[in-house]
Amino acid sequence: MSMTQSYNQKSLRPEFQAALQEALHHFETPFYAYDLQTLRSRLTQMQQAFPSAEIFYAMKANPRLGILRRLLEWDVFLEAVSLGEVHRAYRAGFKKTEVLLNGPVKTPAILQELAEIGVPILGLDSLADTQRVSQLLPGSRVLLRVNPDLPIATHDHLATGRGESKFGIMPDDVEKVLAAARRGNLEVLGLHVHLGSALSHLEDYHAGYAVMEQLYRQHGPFQVLNLGGGFGLDLDPASLAPSAIALAERLGAELWLEPGRYLVAEAGVLVSKIWGTKHTRRNFMLLDAGMMTLLRPMLYAAEHPVIPLYKGKKMQVWDLAGPVCESGDILARDVQLPTPKEGDALAILQAGAYGSSMSSNYLDYPRPLEILWNGLEWEVLRRKQSWEALFADEI
Ligand SMILES: Cc1ncc(COP(=O)(O)O)c(C=O)c1O
Repeated sequence: MSMTQSYNQKSLRPEFQAALQEALHHFETPFYAYDLQTLRSRLTQMQQAFPSAEIFYAMKANPRLGILRRLLEWDVFLEAVSLGEVHRAYRAGFKKTEVLLNGPVKTPAILQELAEIGVPILGLDSLADTQRVSQLLPGSRVLLRVNPDLPIATHDHLATGRGESKFGIMPDDVEKVLAAARRGNLEVLGLHVHLGSALSHLEDYHAGYAVMEQLYRQHGPFQVLNLGGGFGLDLDPASLAPSAIALAERLGAELWLEPGRYLVAEAGVLVSKIWGTKHTRRNFMLLDAGMMTLLRPMLYAAEHPVIPLYKGKKMQVWDLAGPVCESGDILARDVQLPTPKEGDALAILQAGAYGSSMSSNYLDYPRPLEILWNGLEWEVLRRKQSWEALFADEI
């Protein structure tokens, strides 16, 4: 059980918070709201820490076209993990040389469609993946993803660099897969590692880098060293950068990174209204947002800071319950907040990453509205899903 969270532990940029208060008069909740200036400043922090690195934003974190187009203007490339994401990247204006497609399964149908729409750089995850790509897309530029087999410290579902995870090629198998890729006329740019997500221990990164260094010495040289993403929100990229940059220099390789959460999480909030309170053995606020809007608390036991967008005097400790008929539909527990009136709103912070991208139509809830504050006005990035769109594909 988490510790009681006091709402004044976290705050938003005052201008953005004022814009949010105003937005409540115009837009129906629940909605996601993003702050362009925060997005820009997170990217700047990353670019300043890693001036020599190529940044491939992990678009799964937040794939709104309005966000991708900004990132394109700011010289960022994209990391995709599905055919749909590749379509989306191209629609946003990225070229095939600016998109890297990872993921453990690439079916023949996917590879054939890539041949038609433009083959991005491909991250290969297994021998089967490598053989299929060399058969169907010979000449492709590829990276081989390594599973460094390390005890990564994060939630089980987020630890991709453990030996038990389904991802990547085990270090001892790299030679075999590399040989298959070369025999199959693939252009191997380098190796790739993504240790996991929401990582906050520098030691995990350093252990991962050591595995990569050994593999490059054994099988290199390579043009590219891709060290993936995973930066936890409280991890200062500047604390990690010197060792990553030095490693790439020692190996004579270009450094590539794939941050997702770090760039967009802090730039987004989920705004929800409170439609009542109730008391069982616990104190609940009843919200219009739930697990269909923000899945992370249920999926990963993720804890998001919450701030009230209302004033009230009496403070109490609350659980925030969504409207879904599932007892796990709780967005936060033990949050200290003032007693609300019906129709008051609150903001769930750090929701810009894996918020809307993981939202679902469970129980026929439409996907929520998403808006971006550009410093002057709200831009609608995605309208609330219409009933027609919700039912359109059913016969
Ligand atoms: C291969 C790969 N790269 C990058 C990322 C981005 O991770 P994060 O958002 O934690 O930076 C992911 C996340 O799942 C991933 O699977």
